[in-house]
Amino acid sequence: MAARQDPSVQHVHHLPAGQPLLLNGSRALSQGVGRYRQDDVGISIAPLVNVNSMAPVITAPSTPPLTASADPTAPPVIESPEGARVTIGGRQYDWFRGNSYLGLQAHPDVLRAACEATLRYGLKLRDHRRVGCHPCVLEWERAANSFFDCEAAVLLGSGYAGGAVMAAALGDDFDVAFVDEQSHANVWDGLAAAGVRVISFPHRDPEGLAAVLSTDLGARQRPLVVSDGIFPITGALAPVPDYEVVLQPYDGALLCLDDAHAYGVLGPDGRGTSDHFGLKGARRFSYGTMSKAFGGAGGVIPGSAELRGRIERRSAAYRSTTKAPPGIVAAGARALEIARTQPGLRTRLAAHVARVRSALRSMGMPLDDGPAPIICVDARSRLDFASIARRLFDEENIAVLHRPGGYGNVPAGGCLVFTLSALHDEKQIERLVDAFAPSDIADAT
Ligand SMILES: Cc1ncc(COP(=O)(O)O)c(C=O)c1O
Repeated sequence: MAARQDPSVQHVHHLPAGQPLLLNGSRALSQGVGRYRQDDVGISIAPLVNVNSMAPVITAPSTPPLTASADPTAPPVIESPEGARVTIGGRQYDWFRGNSYLGLQAHPDVLRAACEATLRYGLKLRDHRRVGCHPCVLEWERAANSFFDCEAAVLLGSGYAGGAVMAAALGDDFDVAFVDEQSHANVWDGLAAAGVRVISFPHRDPEGLAAVLSTDLGARQRPLVVSDGIFPITGALAPVPDYEVVLQPYDGALLCLDDAHAYGVLGPDGRGTSDHFGLKGARRFSYGTMSKAFGGAGGVIPGSAELRGRIERRSAAYRSTTKAPPGIVAAGARALEIARTQPGLRTRLAAHVARVRSALRSMGMPLDDGPAPIICVDARSRLDFASIARRLFDEENIAVLHRPGGYGNVPAGGCLVFTLSALHDEKQIERLVDAFAPSDIADAT
């Protein structure tokens, strides 16, 4: 098959010369999937790109992708991996709309792990301790335990399942759940499924939490406080140290954070919001996802063997579902290893976050200097978000996200959101900052 340069597989250029062969053309496929030929499985394998070693790699399908809609309000159709740059309608765009914060979603080692496990084990994961278990699950557990420095991390089919799994696991240990009113849908669904009493408290408001605790918690009742660690639309952090102060008088109080956007990103070791604040404790829990910083799919609950036992016994949402396919699990194990052993990725992301926040602040944007890679300029800026997003896209080939107000947890009046990744280079960051200023500020009325 002829070699083909495809912009959607740019990462293959990073394969170092002399790297062990990923796949040996159709021979590897026929070894891996028995009687199937490469054409049957619909992927092309070619000695692609001159990397001296001629390492064969899997390329994107040769069929042309769907192209972008002529409707300017339609979501763009992305024809490449979601990286620092993406291909849309055959053009390259600097991409500030993703949440692959460490840029691992198309890392060559992660893709290699996914391909090898897929060819070796197929698409159906076996993960049941009594029936049998694929080795990639054990590898994932080892990698997650090392990353989170915990005893017995639990793999879930999705980050979304985390809410239900934690609510079931902790169910006997609290009487009333107090939930930040802007918490992610999985938190509400999970607590509803557990059939527990749920009271909301005002968004990121420790005094509001203290008020509902004093009115809605009976004598000798134990509270569970739940919140997102990083809120996904605004990038705001839960004020966890303040919640700790509020919870001090309550014996047996539990706190649980949905750290979907914080794992891999916050804290010296990337272990999430509590790591960032330097807090931990036996009655402090968090869960998250493999689909953001780790670039894949599936959910993760770091914890003790005792918590794992409770999850296995009490949560049907854990027990009675098949987890992600083997390729995804193996990719997740590799991504966790990279995130643990290459802290420079987090440092680089943090530098980008600090640079963009401070540049936008110096232009008068209402932003704090928080550590989240989700940077949200809200209506206090009085900017015309729709026209800025369109100008950046059409004239600068920069994709940022305009979220109109009026739905979900989007701030009133809408917002403009920039999400950053360790994969962005300094030039992209400076181009973003320069392209945003100064005309957009002058337009504010
Ligand atoms: C705060 C939060 N929690 C949970 C999830 C669910 O994660 P996943 O998409 O991996 O199931 C998301 C993802 O969209 C999220 O933003």
